[in-house]
Amino acid sequence: MRQRGLDEEEKPGITRRSFLRGAIAAGSIGFIGAAGFGTVVSLLSPPTECRGELLNSFLYVNPDVEIPMWFVEQGLVGQEALITDFQPGRGANVIWKATISEDGQIACGFPALLIHVDPAELSFPDDPAFDPGEFVQGGLYAILNCCTHACCRPGWRLIPRSAYLKDLGHENIYCVCHDSQYNPRIITKYRHPSPPDASGAEYFGVHKDAAGPAPRGMPLIPLELDGPKIIGRVKNQAWYQYLDSKNKTIPVAEGESG
Ligand code: FES
Repeated sequence: MRQRGLDEEEKPGITRRSFLRGAIAAGSIGFIGAAGFGTVVSLLSPPTECRGELLNSFLYVNPDVEIPMWFVEQGLVGQEALITDFQPGRGANVIWKATISEDGQIACGFPALLIHVDPAELSFPDDPAFDPGEFVQGGLYAILNCCTHACCRPGWRLIPRSAYLKDLGHENIYCVCHDSQYNPRIITKYRHPSPPDASGAEYFGVHKDAAGPAPRGMPLIPLELDGPKIIGRVKNQAWYQYLDSKNKTIPVAEGESG
């Protein structure tokens, strides 16, 4: 399976850059909780540790769970996500806006989820401000992976089925910290609380189901394609300013409004 990634490097028109020497686990970088879910930790390392090349693509990260994950099995951890990797039913833990240090390591970045569902099953808000083409490529979209309850890292299809998860109505995105669930097939409009708790901004996010204490959905990340490479843009900094990210500024690239 690992050979697939190497093969793609050699295909005309498809390139993939790898930034990590050896496998990385979600817990090996400061801003992602143990086992990809657990602890409340800072989204960004201190600025002094964030010098290097800024990427706007998404890098696969190992969620460090016991069940097999397709992107781990295919040797994609540390590589940039491509649209050709996805099909309905596939999701992945990734890092958005990674800064790559001179020695090729990830210095900092933001945890995100890439999720691909059947486009026919996706439901969008009835709001003229929402443009599906800004956020969804086929059935693929991205969210900042910071649970709105306490910023643990929810996962989609990362946890074995058990009686504990019997309420997963639509194979929901699930946060193990306090059982919050998000419906990956519904996009909803939300508003963060007013400062100083969060930015107070209106935003579009993945739908928060009734289960669990999270008060609202996790915000979408606008997507573009650069050939097969998936690029995450900053539409509005305020969308991502809540909980432990509330005082953080997401670095913007040339041409982004931020
Ligand atoms: S942090 Fe996700 S439910 Fe509490």
